[in-house]
Amino acid sequence: MKRIGIIGAMELEVEALKKNMIIRRRVERTSMEFLEGTLDGVEVVIVRSGIGKVNAALCTQILCDIFKVTHIINTGVAGSLKNEINIGDIVVSVDALHHDMDVRVFGYQLGEVPQMGRLAFEADEKLIQTAVTSCREVNPDIAVYQGRVVSGDQFISDKQVKQSIIDNFQGFCVEMEGASIAHAAHLNHVPFVIIRAISDKADDSAEMDYPSFEKAAAAHSAALVKHMLQKI
Ligand code: ADE
Repeated sequence: MKRIGIIGAMELEVEALKKNMIIRRRVERTSMEFLEGTLDGVEVVIVRSGIGKVNAALCTQILCDIFKVTHIINTGVAGSLKNEINIGDIVVSVDALHHDMDVRVFGYQLGEVPQMGRLAFEADEKLIQTAVTSCREVNPDIAVYQGRVVSGDQFISDKQVKQSIIDNFQGFCVEMEGASIAHAAHLNHVPFVIIRAISDKADDSAEMDYPSFEKAAAAHSAALVKHMLQKI
């Protein structure tokens, strides 16, 4: 039976989904509350992981070990890395990588985790297509892009830092959890996709824009996740 794990780093990224679900069981692990139940009749486990890559990786592992999820969706907000991707638009991950991993001294590519045999962790093709189609249905006025999500334990709000991430990784958006969810899902052989609505441009305007747009952006992403559950 399919059971979808849905991770948001912050409460506002999962609150609308939690409100709509029928909760069967609440389980606390590693100080995170996992809500198991159904959302529009689909088996789900919804959880707020907390911010950053360690929280997100722990959360993903628990979803795999304890809840035996068959798919993982990460919903939330991100900073745009492309001029044409604006606040409110949505990015669906093709793959994800850690922009703050650097073992070049031993011959690895910037961003590559040693001994994994890959630079980026690829999202599931079917989940990508389901997310894109659902986005066009549920948010027809919102532009949806398919591209690379890059993650690190940093909020990017400096245009030079942003530019170096763009030059190094060709990412579409930057956030703080996706790559570790992708990494952990890959190690557990669980298909995943990351869905992020843009809350800021990851440059000197990010500090101002982020608080103004995070709520609406998080709601766009969550609405899309709710809609796509029926099609998985
Ligand atoms: N999440 C939303 N905006 C972000 C940014 N600019 N950097 C990192 N994570 C983010």
